[in-house]
Amino acid sequence: MAKPTFYITTPIYYPSGTWHLGTCYTTVICDAIARFKRKQGFDVFYLTGTDEHGLKIEQKSKEAGVTPKEYVDKKVANLKSLWDRLKISYDKFIRTTDSYHEAAVQKIFDKLYEKGDIYKGEYEGYYCVPCETYWTKTQLIDGKCPDCGREVGVAKESCYFFRLSKYQDKLINLLEENDEFLLPKPRRREMINNFLKPGLQDLAVTRSTFTWGVPVDFDPKHVIYVWIDALMNYVTALGYGGEDDSLFKKYWPADVHMMGKEIVRFHSIIWPALLMALDIPLPKKVYGHGWLLMGADKISKSKGNIVDPVELSDKYSVDAVRYYLLREIPFGSDGAYTTRAFLSRLNADLANDLGNLVKRTVAMVNKYEDGNIPVWSGNKQNTDEEIIALCEKALPEVEKYMDELFVPEALESIFTLIRRANKYIDENCPWILAKSEETKARLSDVLYVLLEVIRTAGVLIESYLPDTAEKIFSCFDGISAEERSFDSIRTFGGLKTKKVIEQDAIFMRVDVEKEIAEMESKIEKQEEVKEEKPAVEHKSEITIDDFAKIELRVGKVLSAEKMPKTDKLLVMKVEIGEEKRQIVSGIAKYYSPEEMVGKRVVVVYNLAPHSFRGVESQGMLLCADDGKGGVVLVNPEKEVDTGSEVR
Ligand code: ME8
Ligand code: MG
Repeated sequence: MAKPTFYITTPIYYPSGTWHLGTCYTTVICDAIARFKRKQGFDVFYLTGTDEHGLKIEQKSKEAGVTPKEYVDKKVANLKSLWDRLKISYDKFIRTTDSYHEAAVQKIFDKLYEKGDIYKGEYEGYYCVPCETYWTKTQLIDGKCPDCGREVGVAKESCYFFRLSKYQDKLINLLEENDEFLLPKPRRREMINNFLKPGLQDLAVTRSTFTWGVPVDFDPKHVIYVWIDALMNYVTALGYGGEDDSLFKKYWPADVHMMGKEIVRFHSIIWPALLMALDIPLPKKVYGHGWLLMGADKISKSKGNIVDPVELSDKYSVDAVRYYLLREIPFGSDGAYTTRAFLSRLNADLANDLGNLVKRTVAMVNKYEDGNIPVWSGNKQNTDEEIIALCEKALPEVEKYMDELFVPEALESIFTLIRRANKYIDENCPWILAKSEETKARLSDVLYVLLEVIRTAGVLIESYLPDTAEKIFSCFDGISAEERSFDSIRTFGGLKTKKVIEQDAIFMRVDVEKEIAEMESKIEKQEEVKEEKPAVEHKSEITIDDFAKIELRVGKVLSAEKMPKTDKLLVMKVEIGEEKRQIVSGIAKYYSPEEMVGKRVVVVYNLAPHSFRGVESQGMLLCADDGKGGVVLVNPEKEVDTGSEVR
């Protein structure tokens, strides 16, 4: 029988700006859900990608002095390597500059035009460039963009409109009657009351004031509004509007569109209306998560610092980052990032509760059982009933939470089991049971129970913390695929592996105060450097006649050697036209004598001879500071004769 399908998407990311920890929230959440569904046996398609058109990208690329395509190519490469670093298991990465997507968007636009849902008109409104959004005067707040609070500009253009207003009643019905469509629940009221009830206006869906976008193919002066282009990715990625739509047939409608709350409006109003116009079934669920608020503490506020997800994962592990994102923010609400909270989670849950449980248990099995995993007698005593029951109900509970997309709660269930196991060790005191022959059998059962809980925790945690699960499994010598499956943890006792292998600690405890102090002092140093670095010092102005007094000529180094007893100076013979001169230069730390021979240089020709440590220098070489305390030589850009004047 074919597996049931599960299609989950993140928004496609703007490839501009820099990525911080908050940016990773959507992809990490979706990744945990996708991995979980795969493990449950679903045929999962996890889509992410980049949203590369529009005025913002066009402007940014201009600032950077490159073409828009060059600009996005570089950013996209960075973003992909960030997702690789964080172990994001997407099945497809769509770029809106992919030609199949552009072609499909044009076709979809044509279809809507032919149908009469897109028509030509004239637009005048307020445009917010960073949000790529038009606003009416009444929507502005204090004259500024209601989404981001930035300045808006007035824009007027002839353009095409999408008949959004036509779908108003259908959209109200959708949101009011299907209470699973938009979650969490408060977002529904917000959409109905703030946008749908006041009345929808038709939406301007083309722009003609810039060119970086998908052109309308029957009127190429116009490019398609970036949000229309972007939303279409959810179906074009599956081949809709292209030659092979088998993936579309297989996976559509999407099971979950996940996104931050600021773009719920596009996904719960404009997107369903477009789909209605195209006679495409609607997605099952739109979920608007809250934000990770950055800047709550000093460390996160300093730019380019440790909230860089790559730096954070290099320092504390990828799973520490994933765990923080998945566990710390109440799903649907906002959470403020602080380094202290991040490090505390790492210590309390990962290093103490989980890391210690695994380490202690494996060490005891080594010590008391020679590393052999005992066979469980099946005799339940004392606290066994409780922990075994907890173990067996863990998966159903986690599955229930994951169905509702309650990711932090799912993790909390897993950690409840882990904490219960630590308590079980204290209750049963294996080290006391080990003292007498009579309690050896009980000791074996206690150790089996602990190992079985650890295996169960490993199986459960894999979707959230894949590296950690691997580390847990590596403690079980030759653990089978079966023992890593969900089915094997539905009833207690599935552990069949024969031996344990002692491994390094899964997570290292960090000294929170010390880490914070170190980060702060690093930031302070960076700030000092910034402050101390004097504004570029300029010399007083000279006239062209003053400059004309300096004679600069091209030379070629014939030979070079280090001056004895110093590591700074090179003594060179330099050919300047017909002449040969001896020049001493303080470049020995940056250039070797061998490297210098044959190089063309610029010599201050009419400098009065002077001596270094008794060695005469007849002129001086021009060098530029490299900004790091060193120097680089100044050369003529093309080969010219020695002796040529430099002016
Ligand atoms: O909106 N906390 O892209 P985007 C939580 N291209 N989530 C955050 C966050 C934070 N601090 N910062 C960003 C776009 N995000 C459009 C989408 S879809 C057809 C087009 C999340 O790069 C944000 O909420 O601005 C969104 O889910 C994702 O990062 C990409 O945002
Ligand atoms: Mg955004």
